[in-house]
Amino acid sequence: MITNSEVLQADFQPAEILHRHDQINYLSEVLEPITDNQRVDGAFIHGPTGVGKTHTTQFLLERLEASSPEIETTLIDCWANYQYGATLKRVLEGYDIFRRRGEPKDDLIAKLKAEVDHPYVVVLDEVDQLEDDRLLKPLHEMPHITLLLIANEREDLYSRLDSRVHSRLAGYPAVEFKKYTQDELVSILRKRTEAATRGEVISEPHLEVIADRVGGDARFAIAILKNALEHADRRGGERVRKEDIESVLGDAREELLRATISKLTADQRVLYQILVEGGEQSIGEIYEQYEQRVRDPVVKRTVTGYLQKMEHYDIVELHGQKRGRTYEVTTTQLMDFEDVLE
Ligand SMILES: Nc1ncnc2c1ncn2[C@@H]1O[C@H](COP(=O)(O)OP(=O)(O)O)[C@@H](O)[C@H]1O
Ligand SMILES: [Mg+2]
Repeated sequence: MITNSEVLQADFQPAEILHRHDQINYLSEVLEPITDNQRVDGAFIHGPTGVGKTHTTQFLLERLEASSPEIETTLIDCWANYQYGATLKRVLEGYDIFRRRGEPKDDLIAKLKAEVDHPYVVVLDEVDQLEDDRLLKPLHEMPHITLLLIANEREDLYSRLDSRVHSRLAGYPAVEFKKYTQDELVSILRKRTEAATRGEVISEPHLEVIADRVGGDARFAIAILKNALEHADRRGGERVRKEDIESVLGDAREELLRATISKLTADQRVLYQILVEGGEQSIGEIYEQYEQRVRDPVVKRTVTGYLQKMEHYDIVELHGQKRGRTYEVTTTQLMDFEDVLE
């Protein structure tokens, strides 16, 4: 049934981005002056997970590069590159700037300043995962660099920034990506199915069943679709039945949770373990254990940010408000994640 499994992978870049015209038009307008070599500081992109922030931005960068070859672009996943040195390295690489081994970081900033002499759009995706905000101010101040910051929530990020950094970035125009509606998800799934299979393999009502289950998250919807198609394939079916969908819901969710857990940073792994071992806890209780377990603990505010990120990706649940707030993992009842944590 499946003729092209690649298009069902979570990180596949679709040829066409559906239902994001407003965001694409808005961001194109914001970036427009760069094509005349005028300065644009940056913009902010926010919304929950699985709503097309990364892939829409990627699409925009490709279009920009195609229309204006003098513009350089790079998209950096700050979750994988959350330390100052790692992020900086990616920024330099994106502009093909050569580094010597062990070159001091301050020299690298100076080098970047000296060498970037035409427009360079730097996307910091998952920017709320950065360990600290030291890199944001110098990048913001470089005249040819335009910063596109992608995060789940603007306020969560801004509340963690140093006030001097905050005051600079607060002026960035912001664009929100909302959860997809059921109809939007159905058409995204329809397109994906057409690219992955041949013939009529899943009915409209069945796509609606999937869309109903995912809370507006296209990533989750595509994971269910992939698993349902594979399930139907395995039983030798020619069309997806409702049972195929029902029976893979748990697997699809587990697949996404595993992917998230395997992305966790060293500190987040420690936090995850603390919650698995000790159950529901307050930030005070969590932080006390965290401080004992790691060599270079980050401040409590940053730990709160890490936990918020884990909440956005559905592996941690928050209960209560403000001071009485507690945290709990959502995954223990599902399975043992030890192997992913290794
Ligand atoms: N508007 C869209 N049209 C087609 N595919 C989409 C769209 N939005 C999201 N997707 C797909 O859904 C998945 C999640 O999108 P992604 O850009 O990673 O979301 P986010 O960055 O907001 O978490 C990807 O596989 C992507 O290809
Ligand atoms: Mg993303």
